Amino acid sequence: MRTITTVAEMTAARDAAAGSVGLVPTMGFLHEGHLSLVRDARAGCDTVAVSIFVNPAQFGPGEDLDRYPRDEERDLALLRDEGVDLVFMPPPEEVYPPGFGDWVEVRGPIADRLEGEHRPGHFRGVATVVARLFRIVRPDRAYFGEKDAQQLRVIRRLMRDLGLPVDVVGRPIVREPDGLAMSSRNAYLSPDDRARALSLSRSLAEAEQSVREGERDASYIREAARRTLDAAGVGVDYVSVADENTLEELETIDRPALLLLAVRVGATRLIDNTLLVP
Ligand code: PAJ
Repeated sequence: MRTITTVAEMTAARDAAAGSVGLVPTMGFLHEGHLSLVRDARAGCDTVAVSIFVNPAQFGPGEDLDRYPRDEERDLALLRDEGVDLVFMPPPEEVYPPGFGDWVEVRGPIADRLEGEHRPGHFRGVATVVARLFRIVRPDRAYFGEKDAQQLRVIRRLMRDLGLPVDVVGRPIVREPDGLAMSSRNAYLSPDDRARALSLSRSLAEAEQSVREGERDASYIREAARRTLDAAGVGVDYVSVADENTLEELETIDRPALLLLAVRVGATRLIDNTLLVP
């Protein structure tokens, strides 16, 4: 496994890579969710590259950029165990050289609502760094988690709009045994926070059950989820039942719909989602 920190070296390593190249973009502090993507890439590609880059551009003022958890040594050991070929961990000035100005902005309902509304500039930062990484690594395939369902859809749109030849693969959410979706930010949770954070996966499970029993009224599903979250004492940013492709809000669950949740548990912001299939 080679650890690379400069764009020049990454470009050369990509040129020398044999066969198909798979990329797993991450911000590090790796967990089983990340590793599931790495395993998928390992199974499907000749060369596997993982990027570890805490992207300043996707954090808003007052967000957790400065305290985002990091453990480089542990991350590298985990990736070595998975048989990764290349780890790209550039310093910020490699990704954003002085005078950088080529921002990529994805607009429309897919990017403007939900995370886009609550974290202004977030998807501009994500789209820009993903476009930069794709330009540098030139992967044939790139792997993303449904954990960040809106991010995955924004990136798919970006590929389509820019005509970039990258096959974007989406993978299911990996959860802790008690249902909590794995996230690097779970490291922030106190035992009490963590107990309250379980209201996210509980709300999703309740909604799945309701839809299985025939409920099709999206408002009912939204209100029930909000009640469960309120009762747990978490601050709700949004509860959305949206068309799984366009992310437009639905009144009736007459097609596969995403139930998307964003909450604040103490100072920690968490998101989760599930697909509701009528
Ligand atoms: P990060 O939060 O580190 O996540 C990296 C990838 O792992 C994303 O595609 C995310 O959806 C996926 N992932 C996270 N938790 C998961 C889980 N529990 N199950 C399955 N997949 C999971 O998302 C980012 O970084 C950044 O925005 C990035 C795309 C790297 C751009 O900076």
